[in-house]
Amino acid sequence: MPLVNTKEMFEKAYEGGYAIGAFNCNNMEIVQAITEAAKECNSPVILQVSAGARKYAKPIYLKKLVEAAVKDTNIPIALHLDHGADFEICKECIDSGFTSVMIDASSKSFEENIALTRKVVEYAHAHVPYVTVEAELGTLAGIEDDVNVAHGSESYTRPEDVEEFVRRTGCDSLAIAIGTSHGAYKFKPEQCTVDPKTGVLIPPPLRFDILEEISKRLPGFPIVLHGSSSVNQEYVKIINNNGGSLKDAVGVPEEQLRKAARSSVCKINIDSDLRLAMTAGIREHLNKHPDHFDPRQYIGDGRNYVKEVVKHKILNVLGSNDKI
Ligand code: G3H
Ligand code: 13P
Ligand code: ZN
Repeated sequence: MPLVNTKEMFEKAYEGGYAIGAFNCNNMEIVQAITEAAKECNSPVILQVSAGARKYAKPIYLKKLVEAAVKDTNIPIALHLDHGADFEICKECIDSGFTSVMIDASSKSFEENIALTRKVVEYAHAHVPYVTVEAELGTLAGIEDDVNVAHGSESYTRPEDVEEFVRRTGCDSLAIAIGTSHGAYKFKPEQCTVDPKTGVLIPPPLRFDILEEISKRLPGFPIVLHGSSSVNQEYVKIINNNGGSLKDAVGVPEEQLRKAARSSVCKINIDSDLRLAMTAGIREHLNKHPDHFDPRQYIGDGRNYVKEVVKHKILNVLGSNDKI
C-alpha cells in the first residue's frame, strides 16, 4: 500500500468517533516503534516531520525511513509536514512526496493567515495525487497564553472565525487552540490542583465548550489537536529514578483526549510522550547496565518503550485500533 493522504482517514475517523494519532519522528527507531505499534493494532497512522526533524536527520533519510516502514507494515500511513512555517517548505515537501502538510500561519493576522493558507491549498490540491492541508487558527494556549485568557486574551480559537476561515482557505482540516500546548510542561503548578494521594498535579480542563461550538459551525469537518501529550508520570518517574531531573512535568489527561477523539477531533498530535518514553528506556538501561556500550542495546530499550506508548495511545486514547 502506498503512502496515503489524510482525507479518507479523517472521513472514517469522524464517522467512527475516533482519532488518528500523528506522531513526530526523528530517527529510524522512532519510525519503527510507531509503525510497528500501529501495525499490531491494525490502525492507520500519521508520521509527522517537523522543521527540527528535517534539520536533525536530513529530509532524504526521513523520507526513505518512512518508505521502508510503508513497505514493511503495509498499513495506511500519511507522511505529514508538522508546523510548516511558509509556502516554500510546504512546496518542497509536497514536491518530494509528502501526502499532507500543515501551514502554520497562526501567528499572523486573520487576513494574512487566510492568504498564505489559501496559497498552500491551491498548490497542494493541484498536485497529483491530491495533498491534504492542515491550517491553524488561534494561538495554542501555552502557560502564558492561558494566564492571558483569564484576562480575556484572544489565545483560544474564536468559534465565530472558523466558517469564514475554512470557506476562504479551502483547508482540509483545522488545528484549534482549546487549552493544549506543546512540550512536557503544559501548565504552571499554580494553575493545577494537587492529587492528595499521589501529589501529582491535575491540570485545568480543556475548553470543550469552544470545541463544541466550532464543531456545530463546521459539521463533518475534521479538527486537529496539537500539544496533546499526557506526560505519563510512570515514565517521568523512570527518568527521575535513573539520574534524570524533570520537575512538575504535566500534560493533558488521557480521558479528556479520549472524549475529544469521540467528537470532531480526527487528529491528535503526540511528540513529547515519545521523547519521554525513549529517554526513560535509555536512562533505565544505562543505569542498570553501566558496562554496556552497544547503542543497539540501550536505544533498543528506548524503542520498546516508544512502541508501548504508541500502542497504549491507539488502544486507550485514540480508539483507532482495528480500523483498517
Ligand atoms: O510541535 C512541535 C513538535 O513537538 C516538534 O518539535 O520542532 O523540536 O522537532 P521539534
Ligand atoms: P506535544 O508536545 O504535546 O507532544 O505536542 C506535539 C505537537 O503538537 C506536534 O505538532
Ligand atoms: Zn504542534
